[in-house]
Amino acid sequence: MNYLSQEKIKEIRDSVDIVDVISNYVSLTPKGKNYFGVCPFHDDNNPSMSVNRDKKIYKCFSCGATGTVFKFIMDYENITFIEAVKKVADFGGLNINIGNIPKIKTNNKLYEIYDLSLKFYINNINTAAGKEAKEYLNKRNINEEIIKEFQIGLALNDKDKLSQLLLKRFDEKDVLKSALVNKNAYGYLDLFYDRILFPLHDLKGNVIAYSGRIYNREDNSKYFNTRETEIFKKGEILYNYHRAKDIARQKNQVIIMEGFMDVIRAYTIGVKNVVATMGTAVTKEQATLIKKMAKEIILCFDGDEAGAKATMACADELIKLGVTPKVIRLDHNMDPDEYITKYGKDFETKINNPINIMDFKLQYLKHDKNLSSTVDEAKYVNEAIKEIQKIDDDILKELTIKKITQETNLDESIIRNKITPNKTKIKKTPKSKTKTNTKIDKYEIAQRNLIFYMLRSPEVIKMYNNKVTYMPKEEYRMLAREIKIFYNNEGYIKEADLIDSVECDEDVLKALSKVEEANLNEKYSIEEIEDYIKVIRDYNVKNEIKRLTAKMKDELDPIKKAEVAQKIIDLKKESNNV
Ligand code: CTP
Ligand code: MN
Repeated sequence: MNYLSQEKIKEIRDSVDIVDVISNYVSLTPKGKNYFGVCPFHDDNNPSMSVNRDKKIYKCFSCGATGTVFKFIMDYENITFIEAVKKVADFGGLNINIGNIPKIKTNNKLYEIYDLSLKFYINNINTAAGKEAKEYLNKRNINEEIIKEFQIGLALNDKDKLSQLLLKRFDEKDVLKSALVNKNAYGYLDLFYDRILFPLHDLKGNVIAYSGRIYNREDNSKYFNTRETEIFKKGEILYNYHRAKDIARQKNQVIIMEGFMDVIRAYTIGVKNVVATMGTAVTKEQATLIKKMAKEIILCFDGDEAGAKATMACADELIKLGVTPKVIRLDHNMDPDEYITKYGKDFETKINNPINIMDFKLQYLKHDKNLSSTVDEAKYVNEAIKEIQKIDDDILKELTIKKITQETNLDESIIRNKITPNKTKIKKTPKSKTKTNTKIDKYEIAQRNLIFYMLRSPEVIKMYNNKVTYMPKEEYRMLAREIKIFYNNEGYIKEADLIDSVECDEDVLKALSKVEEANLNEKYSIEEIEDYIKVIRDYNVKNEIKRLTAKMKDELDPIKKAEVAQKIIDLKKESNNV
């Protein structure tokens, strides 16, 4: 059972202080009645996010992100509403039994197809036909426990067994969409054969693809991966994210590797706060995910030249987001898998002594240069200056300038002069009231302001119910409807409770965010409310007149035409009277 009553959800939310909880993720400073911090939901270095303890709501003035403590955790950790509720309950020390948290509700058949395929592949590896694959894994020191934990499976060389199994249960169109099955003139063909399969999961832990490794034959490609599908976008996931995120959060440290074999190997020595980029250039989405996982970010790519290059690229993607990562370099071109296999737990010494990103970069810039040559030395200094300019960390900047000065015997002022003063990041100022107001017309203002007060007063809700037919703008109409439903059920109105009653629904939150931008005086007058209602009704009546006028023109039947004409006259009268 996983149904939770409104009261229970409210109790859970009220068992914690939103400021305490959010402080666990971003640091907050008090300012007036609110707390402020850097919003984690968009690129920013300014404290644009405010948290209101009494209202139990946070809100970013820059990107508009808003919600209760549940919504914050949902977005920060990429989890569902019910999972966030459970986390908050744990945080508040409430012992509630939500039961097994259900997988996200989705009507996409591809998830079911992947669930079934995983069972099929795991079964294969445990049969007699899987013996050779097991031997291969055991030879690589991957034991039964790890095979289970990482749900490692096996595709045999039996052409279409998975195809047939899937086609029995699912529509052909979905089976083909899954990219596990091919169709040609002769029939269906499984895409994976004779490969050990490593399932790849989305952020929520659903299996969405495989990477298959050869183990018993020659093939041009060591790994073969599922192509991108509706549910699998390689640039948006990190290998092992769903298993690592909680541990990374607790340790406030995450280690980034290239390959999933590296991650799996790290597990064997108990290092679990680790994810892999899977051999491709890190995307902005992945960098954003990494940034949110923990404060200390350690890049531990392969020890070879390619790994150094990948470290540079990944670091730059993170630096763009204001993160200063650390780096581990492994000797003798080893990858973490090989290193841990050789040195075991000693790998932890590496984790505990990472080098700072600028030291790594200087080292990297020097690796193909001969600093006793003036040409190379000049090139080095210029490249190093470029790297200094990218970082946000002032102390690190200073230390690096000093280092280059010492290395090159150049005058410090020469280097300083070349560094253009901090690329003045345009400070995003909170959208001012007047600025937003000028963008929207009076009808929108009326709707927005009316809802602003509906959220604060049952009196206004009742006035709206009695007088307004409907809000012309879809998003406001939807929000007004939700407020009405909430009020009818609960007999009171409170924004945080409303948000949780719709399980932090994205559309409701967006509309709420717009409404709160009105930033009006908390007090209202009845005349003011009546005026908003009048403006809205006026708009609706005018629109209706327009519609009917068009209809009248098209109407051929004279009686009906007269009827429509009368309606228009009535409406015009009404619009003059309201
Ligand atoms: N990769 C891939 N396709 C390839 C090679 C690599 O998708 N043809 C990805 C895989 O996700 C792999 C990562 O890039 O985990 C790193 O590649 P590599 O270092 O070559 O793999 P290893 O982790 O060393 O794998 P193994 O130890 O099994 O050789
Ligand atoms: Mn490798």
